[in-house]
Amino acid sequence: MNVLITGAAGFIGSNFTHYIAAECPDWKVTALDLLTYAGNLENLAVLIERKQVSFVRADIADATAMEQLFAQGRFDIVFHLAAESHVDRSIQGARAFAQANVLGTQTLLDCALASRVKRFVHISTDEVYGSLGPTGRFVETTPLDPTSPYSASKASSDLMVLACGKTHGLEVIVTRCTNNYGPYQFPEKLIPLFITNAIEDQALPLYGDGMNVRSWLHVRDHCQALLLAAQRGRPGEVYNVGGSAEAEIPNVAVTKAILQILDKPTSLIKKVGDRPAHDRRYAIDYSKSKAELGWQPTIPFEQGLQSTVRWYLDNEAWWRKIKSGEYLKFYEKNYGNR
Ligand code: NAD
Ligand code: TYD
Repeated sequence: MNVLITGAAGFIGSNFTHYIAAECPDWKVTALDLLTYAGNLENLAVLIERKQVSFVRADIADATAMEQLFAQGRFDIVFHLAAESHVDRSIQGARAFAQANVLGTQTLLDCALASRVKRFVHISTDEVYGSLGPTGRFVETTPLDPTSPYSASKASSDLMVLACGKTHGLEVIVTRCTNNYGPYQFPEKLIPLFITNAIEDQALPLYGDGMNVRSWLHVRDHCQALLLAAQRGRPGEVYNVGGSAEAEIPNVAVTKAILQILDKPTSLIKKVGDRPAHDRRYAIDYSKSKAELGWQPTIPFEQGLQSTVRWYLDNEAWWRKIKSGEYLKFYEKNYGNR
């Protein structure tokens, strides 16, 4: 199998690329990433050194570059993870989200069609459904009601992907997953930000009343779902993927669990103003994925959080470089003239 993974140097993309290299060692893997602020080639260094994957630095919204890549690559499956992914950044400026998430996805669809890709797996988010009240869970038919420019751009790309399947017959599969956590997550998202701030005895900025609920899934469980979706998913279908009921936890409880593991005081918690249009609760019904893909979460949140904290303790050099901005300078120097 000849596969393309976009966004491969990001958090989920790099975990997924490692997962595929281990689970499908005979697959030919092309790892693509623009290496924005969120992309880090260090995440893939071992795989590139061992020639288990070939890396391409390119912009998914660059039609000429993508046409060349797809014409040469002759990919069977595309796993599309590349995106601008942070809600707070989308509030500061939505343009980059429309460019990468909507135009970038459409560019890949055009190339996938022209080069007769067999399957296009589009990795999306439960955030496209909007915010839940105190009860209920998202199902695949829940109406889309995104509230942030990030989730609006993801919802738009989901619709372009599904329309491409209906209109042109491309075999598309959309997965919608809840909040992930685990190794290699950029320390702007809640869990890695709070772990690394706590290690440094810095304040943990908790938005609003801290009672917003997210459904947490370890990234390894997400990777397993993506491979199963490619292997067993029905074309044109959407599959919800996400944490179990025990992993639906208010932010303040996640924050206290991190502080407890690190043996740090709760006085590090700093209540700050709320995020505009802050979705109150996400929770997902993954029974379709369970029935059709044979998937369900396997890593309990407590265990996954423990191992994630351990990873950040063991890999201080990785996140300290990011937090100091040093790695950005490295990429400018390394790739600036190419
Ligand atoms: P991330 O920000 O860590 O990684 C995104 C990667 O995409 C980065 O490496 C970045 O350099 C790359 N990228 C951005 N724009 C690009 C472009 N124009 N061309 C090529 N590469 C580009 O994000 P993540 O958390 O790993 O999320 C990956 C995907 O999974 C996204 O599509 C996101 O919407 C989705 N998702 C994330 C979560 C989560 O909790 N993190 C949950 C559900 C779905
Ligand atoms: P985040 O990791 O940004 O993911 P998303 O917004 O996509 O769910 O945020 C997770 C939750 O944590 C969300 O309710 C916002 C909250 N949050 C904070 O309270 N403080 C922070 O500094 C961050 C980054 C998030």
